[in-house]
Amino acid sequence: MQVFNGCYFVSLMSNSIHLPVLVETIFEHLALAPGNIAVDGTMGGGGHTLEFCKRVGPDGKVFGFDRDPIAVRQTAEVLPDNGVGIAGNYADIPEYLQQMQIDSIDAVLLDLGLSSDQLADRDRGFSFKSDGLLDLRFDQTAGEPAWRLINRLGEKHLADLIYEYGEERFSRRIARKICRIRHGETIKTADQLARIVRSCVPKSKKHSIDPATRTFQAVRIAVNEELKWLGVALKRIPDVLSVGGKFAIISFHSLEDRMVKNAFAEDGRLKVLTKRPLTADPVEVAGNPRSRSAKLRIAQRVEPAVLDR
Ligand SMILES: C[S@@+](CC[C@H](N)C(=O)[O-])C[C@H]1O[C@@H](n2cnc3c(N)ncnc32)[C@H](O)[C@@H]1O
Repeated sequence: MQVFNGCYFVSLMSNSIHLPVLVETIFEHLALAPGNIAVDGTMGGGGHTLEFCKRVGPDGKVFGFDRDPIAVRQTAEVLPDNGVGIAGNYADIPEYLQQMQIDSIDAVLLDLGLSSDQLADRDRGFSFKSDGLLDLRFDQTAGEPAWRLINRLGEKHLADLIYEYGEERFSRRIARKICRIRHGETIKTADQLARIVRSCVPKSKKHSIDPATRTFQAVRIAVNEELKWLGVALKRIPDVLSVGGKFAIISFHSLEDRMVKNAFAEDGRLKVLTKRPLTADPVEVAGNPRSRSAKLRIAQRVEPAVLDR
């Protein structure tokens, strides 16, 4: 493993089980050319990164970022010579590019949320069934694990967090129960939290999702400060795009999608290319159920004067 200007370039074996979503749609719209420079801000198992590498060819360059050093370590190994894996936050892309003396890039992709590899790792607590520690951090070397957060926060704060980030109607009931239970024992595993939430949320007749889904989403968003970093990236990334360069974002829940939609629409540096979000077709959804909730929005860097608003 090499350390380079605070980011590290690493190599090991990749055995990702993550299926990338909307691949054809994304690359059709990005219309990359050989020799382009692109950034995959959320490399994960590398599905999109590898496609970037193919599209820009040997004369191009692809920088794959991920906050999860385990993902970067595994995926960097399978990247061809024109791809580089970087363990870092996508919000810091401008600094990394500056360090590498790259003035502007042709495309950036953010595929938000968590990967199937992270979900399948029983030691990280992303899966409701996991009996390992409820961690939920993308980068386990920094910040506070989820189990500490839910044992520390006051009832009102916990309820607000679950309501705001999970859009969970039963947030007050869940927070009350968490506080009652933790009085007698520390809540440490994903399985423990999932059982508490299920006991507070009536099972929906309409939807088949686990009642714990929204609370897990809320705690994960809080632990990783996901909305904060998305907000920073939305402000900063347009500055590193070349004129004509494209910024594509895939989100999986309405909080993120709303942020992306509004930021793109209000940004004088960008022209929105997708009036409505692009979604997976039934064939993709059948083969990859996770793609069902994916929403893709794309904007293009323009000179402010060109904008017709
Ligand atoms: C949906 S997965 C990406 C999957 C990837 N596109 C693929 O094809 O395998 C999202 C990834 O984003 C990473 N991530 C989340 N927030 C991040 C951030 N602020 N900066 C960099 N990576 C982040 C997660 O660790 C996770 O690996």
